[in-house]
Formats: sequence, C-alpha cells, structure tokens
Amino acid sequence: MLKMNVSVLPARFSSELLNWWLEHKRDLPWKKSTDPYKVWVSEIILQQTRVEQGKKYFDRFLTVFPTIDILASAPEELLLKTWEGLGYYNRARNMHFTAKYLVEQNQGAFPTTIQELSQLKGIGPYTAAAIASFSFGLPHPVIDGNVLRLISRVLGITSDIQQPATVKEIQQFLEKAIEFAVPEDFNQALMDFGSLQCTPGRPNCQVCVLSEYCRAFQEEKTTEIPVKKKKQPLVKRYFHFLDIECEDGHTLIQQRTSGEIWPRLFQLPLIETAQEYILRKEDFDGLMFSITGQTTPALSTYPLIAKSSQVLSHQKIYGNFYKLKVNKLNIIKNTDLYLVEREKVSKFAFPKLVSEYIRSNAYSNGLSMAESGE
Ligand code: ADE
Repeated sequence: MLKMNVSVLPARFSSELLNWWLEHKRDLPWKKSTDPYKVWVSEIILQQTRVEQGKKYFDRFLTVFPTIDILASAPEELLLKTWEGLGYYNRARNMHFTAKYLVEQNQGAFPTTIQELSQLKGIGPYTAAAIASFSFGLPHPVIDGNVLRLISRVLGITSDIQQPATVKEIQQFLEKAIEFAVPEDFNQALMDFGSLQCTPGRPNCQVCVLSEYCRAFQEEKTTEIPVKKKKQPLVKRYFHFLDIECEDGHTLIQQRTSGEIWPRLFQLPLIETAQEYILRKEDFDGLMFSITGQTTPALSTYPLIAKSSQVLSHQKIYGNFYKLKVNKLNIIKNTDLYLVEREKVSKFAFPKLVSEYIRSNAYSNGLSMAESGE
C-alpha cells in the first residue's frame, strides 16, 4: 500500500467531502424543508432508528402532528402511541415539553442561536447543531457516532471516542473544516459519508476520496479505529407477562409507574424474576389473587405461549408471555389496572416487546410460536 505522510488539512477534507457528496447525496424526506420543527422531528427520530425506518416514522409523525402547535396541545397518549416502536420514550416526552414551552413562551418559534437551542429540553449538542445549520445556515458541525468514527479514522485518533477530550479534538477539526463550506451541506455530507462510505464494519477504503491521507487507512488501522472502551455488561431481567383472556372478550392491562424503565407505558400484568424461570401454578395464583381476588382456574398447565427480548441501554429484558383463560374478571386493586376489550388493546402505548406480542398470532389466536410460525 502506498503510504504518505500528509497532515489532514481541514480545507482539503472539506472540499473532497463536498465533491463526494455532490455525486452521492441521498434524497431523504426531511431534506426537503428547512423548517426547524421538521428538522428537529427528523433528528430526534433518527437518533432512535435507521434512515429507512426513520422515513416511515417521520411521515407518520408529521401526519399526526403537522405543526408544533398541534404537537403541543396533543394528549401524551397520542404522542406515545405515535412513537411506539422507536423506544426511549423520554425523547418523545421531552419533545412534548419543548413544544409546549415554545408555543407558550415564543409563539411556537425556535430560537436561532446554538446557545439558546441547546437550552431546550431534549436538545443536546448534536440536535442543536443540526437545527442551527439546516434551518439557520450557521457553521456548527454535527457530531454523532458516525461522525466520530469518520473523523477519528481520518485523523488516526486512537484515544477513546467516548472521552470528552477526544470529542473536543474532533470538534476543533470540524469547526475549522466547516468554514470552507456551506454549513448545511457540510453537515449533511458528513452524515451521508459516515453512513454510506465510512461504515463501521468494512469501509470501502479502496474507493474513497479521503484514502490518500486518511491515517487509519494509511496505517492499516481501519478496524481498530474508532477506539471505544467496552461497556458494562447488560443487566438481565426476566419479565413474565400474563395474557389473561376472559370469555367475554376483555383482558387486563396495567400502567407502569414512573421511576422505572418504560414510565407510564402499558403492559400486561407481570411477575419479574432475577433468573431465567418458568412460572408455576403458585406464581399465577399469587398474582391473580392480588389483582383480581380470584384464584387461577385449575388448569394443569399455563402455557408459555411466546418469548422475546429487548435490549435497552443498560439492561436486557427477556419477556415470557403466558396465556390464561378465565370465565370472569374482577379487579380489586384498581389503581393502575384497566379492564379493556382485547381488540382495543392496541390503542394503548406499550413497550416494543409487548406491542410485538399483541400484534402476533399468539395474542389473537392463542397460537404458540411454533404453531404460528413466528
Ligand atoms: N442521521 C441523522 N440525521 C440524519 C440526516 N439528517 N440525514 C441522514 N442521516 C441522518
């Protein structure tokens, strides 16, 4: 391989990045507008999901909440339902808070400086830079995981990219480079280059406009950079959900409390265990009695009908779903429990793990995973 000893000049980086982008830019729905509301919505959604999936959520979100005023006055349940599947529901709640705040305090207008944007709830440095550049043409570089990977490779940075000092070094380089371009184009080019060209697994370095001076490429460190310290192992939790199917077509759902994962979302009544476990009759009896005052019907088995899992930032949740058929359902402890028609259950917002179960054949037909082919 041809090795060169060139320093990476911000001006050269900027011009080559932009030339690449002119040929490769993607046609994405949120690029059609500089409206800060739409930029904000798209960037928050894209922090949660990939671009392809993000397009669907973006369209859906703007259909339900076409303006910041409509978002501000919407009930939280509708917002959570629209957000369902994206996860990290606090992001949606923060959007709601900020929409209300801007409508009440600023006639729904966004502030136009990065300092003021960064003070809004749920708007961190990345989103503030995206709005400042895409909506107001200001020269603030966006820095997310893709950008950290790209620049740490180009500059050959071998310190941990999660360290503030490393981020600062990357930011200083980008702040110089963005001066040589139209800010919104520069930022969009960074994003597109990071996701199309300088990919995590096997970047296409053989055909890359930066390879002449990309340090990681020159020094054969592309697979080692970016350097990221290993995260703490995920805490495993085992959630056993009871799908109680009443003869009259109702079921029981429960609203989660605040201060835990998935605050105020709904779920099926639940027993948690610290280890992998299959519920036994006494477990069902205990839970059923505490919520309904009824004992469980004397069945010989309580079928474990579906299994799934969901990874959160620090935890892995294993879900076991059990089907329990009963003739009658009362609720004695009714603060957070709701008796609802089974067919209307999908109107409530559930964590992804539970909403997937509710959409499955196991919920609607009682078919086990093997029977339904899921
Ligand atoms: N990822 C995050 N923001 C993006 C954007 N505006 N375009 C493409 N990918 C993105």
